[in-house]
Amino acid sequence: MTKKVTLNDMTFVKMIEKSILKEKVKELADQINKEYEGEFLELIVVLKGAFIFASDLIRNLTVDHAIHFVQFSSYSGTKSTNEIKEKLAVNFDVEGKNILIVEDIIDTGNTLDFFIKKLKKKHPKSIHIAVLLFKPNAFKHDFPVKFKAFDIDDKFVIGYGLDLDEKARHLKHIYQLEEE
Ligand code: IMP
Ligand code: MG
Repeated sequence: MTKKVTLNDMTFVKMIEKSILKEKVKELADQINKEYEGEFLELIVVLKGAFIFASDLIRNLTVDHAIHFVQFSSYSGTKSTNEIKEKLAVNFDVEGKNILIVEDIIDTGNTLDFFIKKLKKKHPKSIHIAVLLFKPNAFKHDFPVKFKAFDIDDKFVIGYGLDLDEKARHLKHIYQLEEE
């Protein structure tokens, strides 16, 4: 089993095993199924990082739903930049809908804060977030995160959809940057 991976001269150590990811994603889906029972859900998956999490999540959903994708860019290497660009926008009618944003990780929260504010102007019935990883010590906003799998330290992570300069998304486990 791969305990460490090296990428761009940095060492990453295994942090979350794939079997644990599988269990937690199922738990999150169960919570979502319960919360939206009898309702229709519009999932908005934030590309690219959330695509693997989303694909596992939706295969555990029993609630009726549709899937949409959006894309923003704000990261360069292992550092967040302040400027958020919308690369792929929402292209359905949000008004009166139950919106669930599916995101891989909330770091500063800048990306989702920007996106939630935009969505609210379109008057959805509800907006909630389902996120795999949350860095409480990096979070700079106060929007609620209803469905969350893991709180993690403020260190860069890769794997299970999360990249470092477009690499490492395919890794089955989640790896964390090793401290020097
Ligand atoms: P935020 O706007 O600072 O919350 O960061 C949002 C986006 O940056 C996430 O959706 C990720 O795509 C990316 N990101 C943040 N932290 C990490 C990390 O540790 N590894 C890989 N990508 C990250
Ligand atoms: Mg993301």
